Amino acid sequence: MAIHILGNNIFVLETKNTHYVLGVDKYGYNRHIHWGKKCNINDYEAKDIWDENSNHTRLDMAKQEFTVFGGTMYRESDLKVQFPDNCREIDLLFVDAKAENNILTVTLKDKFYPLEIALKYRIRDNDDIISRWTEIKNTGNENITLDRAFSAELTLPSVKPYTIKNTNGSWGGEYVETESTLEGGALVFDSKRGTTGHNQSPYFIAYQNADEKQGDVYFGTLAYSGNFKVLCTRDLFYTTRVSIGLNDFDFKHILKSNETFVTPMVFCGYSQAGFGEMSRQMNRFAINHVLPKQFNDKVLPVLYNSWEATEFDVNCKHQTALAKLAAKMGVELFVMDDGWFGERNHDRAGLGDWFVNKKKFPKGIDELIKNVNKLGMDFGLWFEPEMVNPDSDLYRKHPDWAYHYNTREAHTLRHQLVLNMTRKDVQEYIFNCMDEMLTNHNIKYIKWDMNRPLSETGAENLDCPQELWLRHTQAVYNIVDRLKEKHPDVAIESCSSGGGRSDYGALLHFDQVWTSDNTDSVDRMTMQKWFTYLRPTKVMRAWVTDINWYNSPMSLDFRFNVAMQGSLGVGGNLTKYSREDLEVGKKNVALYKEIRHLVQFGDLYRILDAQKDEILFNLYVSEDKKEAVAFLASVHTSFMKKEIPLLFEGLDDNKVYTFNLNNRDYEKTGAYLKNVGIPVTIRGMGYNKIIKIKAK
Ligand code: GLA
Repeated sequence: MAIHILGNNIFVLETKNTHYVLGVDKYGYNRHIHWGKKCNINDYEAKDIWDENSNHTRLDMAKQEFTVFGGTMYRESDLKVQFPDNCREIDLLFVDAKAENNILTVTLKDKFYPLEIALKYRIRDNDDIISRWTEIKNTGNENITLDRAFSAELTLPSVKPYTIKNTNGSWGGEYVETESTLEGGALVFDSKRGTTGHNQSPYFIAYQNADEKQGDVYFGTLAYSGNFKVLCTRDLFYTTRVSIGLNDFDFKHILKSNETFVTPMVFCGYSQAGFGEMSRQMNRFAINHVLPKQFNDKVLPVLYNSWEATEFDVNCKHQTALAKLAAKMGVELFVMDDGWFGERNHDRAGLGDWFVNKKKFPKGIDELIKNVNKLGMDFGLWFEPEMVNPDSDLYRKHPDWAYHYNTREAHTLRHQLVLNMTRKDVQEYIFNCMDEMLTNHNIKYIKWDMNRPLSETGAENLDCPQELWLRHTQAVYNIVDRLKEKHPDVAIESCSSGGGRSDYGALLHFDQVWTSDNTDSVDRMTMQKWFTYLRPTKVMRAWVTDINWYNSPMSLDFRFNVAMQGSLGVGGNLTKYSREDLEVGKKNVALYKEIRHLVQFGDLYRILDAQKDEILFNLYVSEDKKEAVAFLASVHTSFMKKEIPLLFEGLDDNKVYTFNLNNRDYEKTGAYLKNVGIPVTIRGMGYNKIIKIKAK
């Protein structure tokens, strides 16, 4: 790993397997040169280009690292500003390039105006992921207005069209994969909701001939949980570019004298071995470099969450009854969900009143916490800090604390309004309520929920109202960070009606995410695949519940099998479970504890696919390849009723592995398991198996 600053103003980021090359041309403009396999660094150059004719301009043709609006450049730009004299043209020239602590900084300055841009690139040992962001500085005395400020532009090498994966999900149906081949024009994936949302994703995965195991894949994901934009274009010169950053929809930022605007980061990378290698790279990267340090390298506890069992009807007796059964199953963390505060007897009241409901907990919440602790479990609690119900003491006292316009009716969704998180007093109120609960009670876990998007976003406190989108998200991060600093032993989960806030911005601050309100094991088989494309497995909370929405109910073992492929939770109504069911739960939780280090930290090989192959076959292999765990699950098989060989991947060819499958002890080399495989017959409904594999 190295950053090479060459004499001809060519800058090479050398990662484990790739070169990312940029430079400066003879006009002083920034240029993109290469992203992909390593070449001889002395061959790289910023080739001269010129206006081909009056319609094909030099600026239009240029591959750039950061394109600004202005001149004879007619494609999309990454930066659009308005200077105090109303000029909207930007003309950036190279100033210098520095490498320090594995960060390359390329500084550019406007020819005339006091605007300075720093393009930032960070590389690390052992992977091919580059962190990119941009810093925009006003070095003058007057305000500069930013109208668009993306984080990065990424140019893909081939002149042929790329297929781009994104999502078209919804509540309960998150992460549903889309693939669009971009031959010309633009593809836009974005959010205008104030949060990431369930629909499109702040990332791109671009490829031509790739699958799970082979082929070149370029990808990038934005670390931001609000309005984002991923803008993919293919121009008349057949260049495919992806610009990625804050959405310019209803965006403005006033950059005051001497202020620097720092964009959110983009984590981008290149895999030479298909989507599988892409996921494994991002999994390791997220664990080592993204997730907050308190819990990034710790296995996550098995949790129980009371939501699906009790909804709003919580009290000490019933929660304790659930806790006893959960503890018997081997659960380590008991989480009481919604309903414990204010007048929260249903979803029409109480949000904002973060005080324990005395009718439900006449002796206080400590009675329950003590019961839970006595059973050997930690205790966790649900909050939805950014929200207020009009029917709440908080709203009655501070109706102006919700986003609103005096002339417009504020729409409630799920009977709630969004608090104006850009206000200091609102931020302090939320922090203090949560801090008080954490200080006075033995709480080790918070589920931070966010159940509706923003609307009627009036914020009288702001000079520039369009700044609210960014400020809202920053306020959330800020409160989470402050809580974590003061209570470092508390883990925080990001939830937004399920997986509406499960992006890399959230992963820089939260320890895990609630994947989806859809806990149906059959749906989860594919949702979990899509989730783990770019996100780390360990943050993916997966509960076993009583929800069986699919055609026919799947067995408890089957549901455990699927949930054990993430960070296991239990969410069913245990008081209704038979003795046998509780035993099945106990057996699976015990098994999970034996294998969770592999699931949460191992390399995932998606070998057979539930949708395409009828059988899901996932293998999680430890980094040293001495241990692995395989999951097999099939809802039902139609044609594949014959014996098939299970062909393993990711094991060490030369190691001898032992395992038991269908009452037979196997002892085979990795090479044999990969090339010859182990025969299995998968038939009927709800087949499921977990195979523990160890090297001798
Ligand atoms: C959201 C969450 C659920 C649950 C409820 C509580 O829908 O996604 O898991 O916490 O809110 O109201």
